[in-house]
Amino acid sequence: MGRFPSTKSVENTPAFAAALDIHGGLDIDAVVARWGASATIVDDICATFGVGGGGAARAKARELGTPRVLLTHKNENVYNAYACEIAAMTRASRSLCVGMFLAMGDARAVRHAAGLRAEIVPLFARDTAEALLADVETLRVTFSSHVNAPETAFFHDCVARHPHRMSSDALGAAFGRIVDSWGAGLSRARGDERQMEDVARFAVIESARGYVFGLVSYAPSSLSLRAVDWARKPQHFSAGTRAEIALACVNVAAAGCEAAFDVDSGSAALIDPCCGSGTMLHAAWTRGFAVAGGDISPGAVAMTKTNVGYFVARAGQSSTMPRAVERDALEPNAFQDAYGSHKRVGAIVSNLPFGRRVAIGGGDGDGRASVGAFASEYAPMLTAFRDAADRHVFISGVPIADDMRAMGYKNVSDVSLCRFGRSFMTIALGESASGALEPATLFSVDEALERAAGKKEKKWQKSKSKVDIAARFANPNALRIAIDVSYEQDSTRARRSVAKQLCECVGVSHRNDNLALTYCAWRGPIAEESREYFFSDRWDCIKKDDRDVEEVFAPEDIVYMSPDADEALDEVDASKVYVVGGIVDLATRGMRTSVTRATNAGLRAVRLPIREFKPEQTHTVLNIDAVVKILAARRSGLSWDETFERELPKRQKKERPKREKRERVVE
Ligand SMILES: C[S@@+](CC[C@H](N)C(=O)[O-])C[C@H]1O[C@@H](n2cnc3c(N)ncnc32)[C@H](O)[C@@H]1O
Repeated sequence: MGRFPSTKSVENTPAFAAALDIHGGLDIDAVVARWGASATIVDDICATFGVGGGGAARAKARELGTPRVLLTHKNENVYNAYACEIAAMTRASRSLCVGMFLAMGDARAVRHAAGLRAEIVPLFARDTAEALLADVETLRVTFSSHVNAPETAFFHDCVARHPHRMSSDALGAAFGRIVDSWGAGLSRARGDERQMEDVARFAVIESARGYVFGLVSYAPSSLSLRAVDWARKPQHFSAGTRAEIALACVNVAAAGCEAAFDVDSGSAALIDPCCGSGTMLHAAWTRGFAVAGGDISPGAVAMTKTNVGYFVARAGQSSTMPRAVERDALEPNAFQDAYGSHKRVGAIVSNLPFGRRVAIGGGDGDGRASVGAFASEYAPMLTAFRDAADRHVFISGVPIADDMRAMGYKNVSDVSLCRFGRSFMTIALGESASGALEPATLFSVDEALERAAGKKEKKWQKSKSKVDIAARFANPNALRIAIDVSYEQDSTRARRSVAKQLCECVGVSHRNDNLALTYCAWRGPIAEESREYFFSDRWDCIKKDDRDVEEVFAPEDIVYMSPDADEALDEVDASKVYVVGGIVDLATRGMRTSVTRATNAGLRAVRLPIREFKPEQTHTVLNIDAVVKILAARRSGLSWDETFERELPKRQKKERPKREKRERVVE
């Protein structure tokens, strides 16, 4: 998705909102009021996107007021968490497609949603871009003169590709031209526009089934998101919860009664009795909730204090530091003093310990990742937690909703957080709630479990042809390649991208018995990211080593691949180890990162001979997997010409200036 710049809420700038008049028969308030009253927009959107929902649902939507389109990050696995969160916060939200929701009601609360990218008041929704363009053409937008230098800006964003899509460039140009004609000036291309408040921002959102055009009424600034960037915490925990999921859990737990969880309210608190490295505590703290935590492991408690303390200190708010105590959550009366806060527990929000990594009791997990078989493991905790709070939100490794219902938890619902059924969020809203939460999700728990079962079958079939890794590494003719993941990546996106490329390389290695691939410096965030999102525990045809590359291999055997090296590679030979830098960060482009790293360590650095054999190639900075494939192809006996013809990514063959803006990896 494209990035929305920070946008002040239209409602929060009344002077500006008053100055913005959308007509051509329409003004924004009238449009919203009319659509709100007639629910035409709901009909439009529901029809366009094929969202079901009868008269009753629409009547409810009408009652709840202004419809909004909410965009969240589109990673499918967290999408289910966001669906849950938005459903909890608006209680009338409907999912349109991955990462895009139609929400009614209290949009203000939704602005705390973990993955919220933008909030838009929809003006039109149509099933093709052309039809939408015709609608938008009828709009006339003016600004009254008392607002200083009003400007309009236009964004387009794609949450899912429309089957008969208009190209992004054409769509941008066509809508941009119309938007251009409205304002005192279009500032699409200017950097400083992003700093300006008095800008009316319009957006087109493309989805698999249609397009929505609307006024952007809110988009969180990337700066404000970065300020709470949990990825920068001092201590990482392999069993840690993903920050967005933690925030989604906290939001779901507090939705509808936020004030009761305020630090100032003094009457209720949120507890994570298995706090590990403190992710839930941090998430709740960022929302200003009274939160406390505990863990049976003294190491975990120390980690929580360090991690949460780091952010509290940065915010200069030592008085709001959440308590973390060393405690066995299963001990009788564990909740009596509400983990030291002396407040009644409003909600228990916890990523429960389970088989794979951590065990109940604080020990190491047994590595099991089986689905469905071990729900009984959770029984002692679920029993202990049931009466200790009104609401519960748990993350678990197996579905536990049925067990919770059987134990007497009320208004229980669950979603799968992973399309292969490896982690679940289960919500019990308690006796006083009017019903269980019904999020509209991309895949149901049952579907995830079915997929997991299918995967098991595949895995079993695969295990019949198991990779003989010892033989592979003992083969003197094997091509040795190492990937150096010692580099720091400065964004979640960059980490995810490196992990994804490492996963691609595993596929390359699976298909090529002659490749001995080692991931060096296998520690820290990339290893965590790979394990969490790409199941690196199952990568069976590569070696992982936590030592640096020059400790694993004799330095004189190492040939470090870098696009900035002076020397061009000629032969690829089995006596050497070819090291590819695991970097994918725009910020490091042009900084000679890998060549500097190699030179400082006294290693030979070379580049691929792209300049010599493909002089027309403008981009020489390739993805990790592309470099691995090129080395393997050359080693298999192909000439450089043949190798590049076959393996250079096709999109790299011609100049695409837009690509420059994206992250690339240093070979
Ligand atoms: C999945 S981890 C929690 C992760 C945490 N949310 C984070 O982001 O770091 C589960 C935690 O439960 C703790 N634990 C296990 N048994 C416990 C018990 N009986 N009482 C309290 N904590 C326990 C473990 O020590 C572990 O830190």
